[in-house]
Amino acid sequence: MSEPKRPELKRLFIETYGCQMNVYDSERMRDVLTPLGYAVTERPDDADLVILNTCHIREKATEKVYSEIGRLRAHKERRAGEGKGMTIAIAGCVAQAEGEEIIRRAPEVDLVVGPQAYHKLPELIARVARKTGERLAADFTAQEKFDALPARAPDGVTAFLSIQEGCDKFCTFCVVPYTRGAEYSRPLADVVAEAQALADRGVREITLLGQNVNAYHGAMGGGVASFAELLQALARIEGVARLRYMTSHPVEMSDDLIALHGDEPKLMPFLHLPVQSGSDRILKAMNRKHDGAFYLDIVSRVRTLRPDIALSTDFIVGFPGETEKEFEATMQLARDVTFASAFSFKYSPRPGTPAAAMMGQVSEEAQNERLKALQALLWEQQRAFNAKQVDRVLPVLVTGDGRMAGQKHGRTPYLQSVHFADTQARNGDIVPVRILASAQNSLSGARAALEAA
Ligand code: 5AD
Ligand code: SF4
Repeated sequence: MSEPKRPELKRLFIETYGCQMNVYDSERMRDVLTPLGYAVTERPDDADLVILNTCHIREKATEKVYSEIGRLRAHKERRAGEGKGMTIAIAGCVAQAEGEEIIRRAPEVDLVVGPQAYHKLPELIARVARKTGERLAADFTAQEKFDALPARAPDGVTAFLSIQEGCDKFCTFCVVPYTRGAEYSRPLADVVAEAQALADRGVREITLLGQNVNAYHGAMGGGVASFAELLQALARIEGVARLRYMTSHPVEMSDDLIALHGDEPKLMPFLHLPVQSGSDRILKAMNRKHDGAFYLDIVSRVRTLRPDIALSTDFIVGFPGETEKEFEATMQLARDVTFASAFSFKYSPRPGTPAAAMMGQVSEEAQNERLKALQALLWEQQRAFNAKQVDRVLPVLVTGDGRMAGQKHGRTPYLQSVHFADTQARNGDIVPVRILASAQNSLSGARAALEAA
């Protein structure tokens, strides 16, 4: 008797660049494609479908995409020689911003799909197979996308949940308002339903995502729910033990949101609040809509309510016109706040943004020097923050097995990764862990007696 022929599994490789929104979107693309028989592979060279989920925020990120397309071309040609196909799709913000350019420059790219069109992927891929010659899909709305995406299949006990997309802030250096479009918030009931579904599948920690997540204002009944109201609604879901959010804007740190950091135990003591610069003149030129004192005031108010809160931020050095003195104001702000972690970037002119046309572009050399000085300071602050946890007992969410036998891996409330000795804890448990040692990017420890939590 011959075995029934199994439908052939198609291999899907997704490379994700840039922000957490892209990580979330990549997961959703995978979910859309799984019912079509695609299974994720770790290697691009043998994939039937390769998706590059791109980022346009800095120049380097865009360059990487074109060089990756070049590498894929070789795989595609080799596979063609073996009688096999390889569909190459470019997704994400480069797709949105430079779709037509990609189509012109890279004939091996079969499909260019903007961030609002992922729900259409099955149809778009079918079009490629039918050789219709249509390669660009970039014109949909965020609402349409969210409504059409299928139910989630989370991998573990932590998950991202996108609640808001796009941005109306128009910081003068940033492409997001052009690539991701106007701000759109999902209705509260949809977000709560998705969070409940995640909790039902064992997710314990949810990170709410949005380019301006705390500007959330989603429909609720006949009215509008604020971000703090959304957090409260989510905190009522029993299975959800921990809530986080990113990325937020200082001017959207409303009083009720700040208060929630003191009142809501499920809201984790970690806040990513990009400041970009410590100089008031530069902040104004960036159109950030606040000054340094405003930022420091928020920090002090949040810290009064939640003294142990870990603060994280984004900085840009070498914005057009930035003087040494203005850069020193950034260094000073970092010293004043003391961050637990931070991202810092050299300013990168993005075509079409106002800052790209500003006078006084800072030399690469000066940018490098400033970045080095700032990163050394931030590096030291992060190391010190981690070292401060040694000897403490922290409630750790168990996310998986550790590097060695007898070890588990988990996350502290401050978003630190921790390896600890334990054989009993199951994924999703929150267990007390005594921190024994710290490094630049992680902690290690051992399960502590239960009563110590
Ligand atoms: N150059 C450098 N950094 C940038 N960012 C956004 N646009 C640029 C740019 N043109 C940084 C900001 C933002 C983070 C996501 O990326 O710090 O907060
Ligand atoms: Fe870009 Fe500014 Fe909007 Fe953030 S707030 S996405 S930096 S325009």
